Amino acid sequence: STANMDDCFELGFSSVRLATAELMKALELQPKFISASTRRDMYTEWHGRIEEMIKKRISKVYPDHIIIVENKADYDKRSALKLTAAPTWILDPIDGTMNFAHGFPYTCVSLAFWQEKQPEFGIIWNPFLDQCYTARRGYGAFMNVKPLNVSKRDQLSEALIIHELGTDLTFADKKLKNIDQIARKAHGLRSLGSTVLNMCMVAQGFADAYYEFGCHAWDMAAGVLLVQEAGGVVVDPSLQPVDLMSRRMLCASSPKLAQELSALLVKCKSTMVNVD
Ligand code: IPD
Repeated sequence: STANMDDCFELGFSSVRLATAELMKALELQPKFISASTRRDMYTEWHGRIEEMIKKRISKVYPDHIIIVENKADYDKRSALKLTAAPTWILDPIDGTMNFAHGFPYTCVSLAFWQEKQPEFGIIWNPFLDQCYTARRGYGAFMNVKPLNVSKRDQLSEALIIHELGTDLTFADKKLKNIDQIARKAHGLRSLGSTVLNMCMVAQGFADAYYEFGCHAWDMAAGVLLVQEAGGVVVDPSLQPVDLMSRRMLCASSPKLAQELSALLVKCKSTMVNVD
């Protein structure tokens, strides 16, 4: 069944807007944190609340659509997650949970819609900075109403690169080696603490590339189309096509910069795929 994209987008947009209002309330009420697999990988009561709210709205209209979500109950079943050709909503109720816990204002609700294993739209809303990023396939990428374009910098020596150490430090030695390499070759290095908001920085042309080993499908799903529609590329760090379930990703303002960055990276692999 092919769903009407205008209708799906409207539903997604209004749902995320409602969810961001919840998120604003949460900050005043001292969220209660439930620690997940590690001390750094956190889950709050607000994740559950936002998840329920959005899931209910979607499944009421589209009971046959699949919904993939960062979910406490599913933590041990993460490896069972598969992306199929079916209409699929991918939700991160709160991306940038550590930031949320500290009041560092880079936290958002992130919702994507994929079909035939292709992104159709992405909605990323940071209520703390009043920034709403949207992209629809073929229609461009926007921050509020402003169209987004990636930067024109395609040389690593002139580029601002974003990385994340992530919550899983299993590969910390390799990740630190990567940071060391890039710090010596790039113009500068940054880290915001939210996978999808890092991708927004690349789409917006504020940063030139971003890579991460260890991010999940729900962290990156909405950012893929945003970067592509802003004129950038999203690939696997090995330069193969990006795989949403592979827990790794590289995005850049151009294929040339992606290549230069990829050549420097020690690729953290296989054992990370869908395990924590
Ligand atoms: C995390 C953040 C963080 C990234 C991790 C993610 P969460 O998402 O995006 O920046 O490094 O890989 O899991 O847990 O806040 O939704």
